[in-house]
Amino acid sequence: MGIQIDEVLSGNSMAILRAARTTTPLRKKENKRQDNEDDTQIGPPPRPFVKWVGGKRQLLDILHAAAPDNFGRYYEPFIGGGAYLFSQLPDSATISDANPELINCYQVIRDDVEALIRSLRTHKNEEAHFYAVRAKKLPTMTAVQRASRFIFLNKTCFNGLYRENKSGQFNSPFGRYKNPKIVDTENLRAISEYLNTCDVEIKHSGYQFVLDKAQPGDYVYFDPPYAPMTKTANFASYVKGGFGLQDQAELAQTFAELDKKGVKVMLSNSNTPIIHELYKGFNIKIIHASRAINCKGSKRGKEANEVLVTNY
Ligand SMILES: C[S@@+](CC[C@H](N)C(=O)[O-])C[C@H]1O[C@@H](n2cnc3c(N)ncnc32)[C@H](O)[C@@H]1O
Repeated sequence: MGIQIDEVLSGNSMAILRAARTTTPLRKKENKRQDNEDDTQIGPPPRPFVKWVGGKRQLLDILHAAAPDNFGRYYEPFIGGGAYLFSQLPDSATISDANPELINCYQVIRDDVEALIRSLRTHKNEEAHFYAVRAKKLPTMTAVQRASRFIFLNKTCFNGLYRENKSGQFNSPFGRYKNPKIVDTENLRAISEYLNTCDVEIKHSGYQFVLDKAQPGDYVYFDPPYAPMTKTANFASYVKGGFGLQDQAELAQTFAELDKKGVKVMLSNSNTPIIHELYKGFNIKIIHASRAINCKGSKRGKEANEVLVTNY
């Protein structure tokens, strides 16, 4: 028996929703159709609403296996596209990122998803329209217009790559995709429902605030821009200023202080000598992941080593 929409929306919905969702994605589509003939069933679970460099969709099984068995509040201070968050749907969480336009999207999806959907429907996958939207001056726009612009550019730009120039302006070129899904109504509504029914705080902030906020027993997952594997192969341009080695060292310090405080901490990064050095004394698991940020097609999809560092 499936769960009906009105059942979900009445009682304490998110727990019911999660219970249903943890089983539904594993079931084959045909079974789902046999079991659930009517269309009042809940939709698929939320998933990232943007394509994001460093997104964790490929690594979810590894992250779930490495997560602590129990914890209090969940913190994800480099939220990006939120793949891991959406795969867990924790009851209480604080998510944040230093990218103001990305965080504005999460807030708008929570507060005004229908206006966002209406605005997204006005966009066209055309080069002239793309460059006109890209050139718009953010201070003159409403929060909904900014979120709509951000999602539209992400869906239609080259490689879905969010890249800023030195003055902090988005500068990826038009992607020439045949039929990008600019308006994913079902997913946006699913995300909005999660953000509204659970205790999820959304912050525009550097990751450092987590040191004061996280309490013993809470769980923090850090997924920062990675330390470079080579001098040229790095991508850390998510926000103006990037994320250099000094930032990596300060983050490692924050990791160690959270550890002293009794917070459970997990971190993803590249499998490089500097990361091994910075996190020596903690558990470091080497994992293999394919990545697609190299601009040369031939170099895409190759295996790159990553690490998962935990203190528990
Ligand atoms: C590797 S991505 C996270 C990917 C995410 N786990 C996902 O599944 O999409 C790193 C994120 O860190 C953010 N970021 C960069 N510097 C930051 C800082 N100093 N504090 C907080 N967030 C930062 C970037 O905007 C980017 O979204």
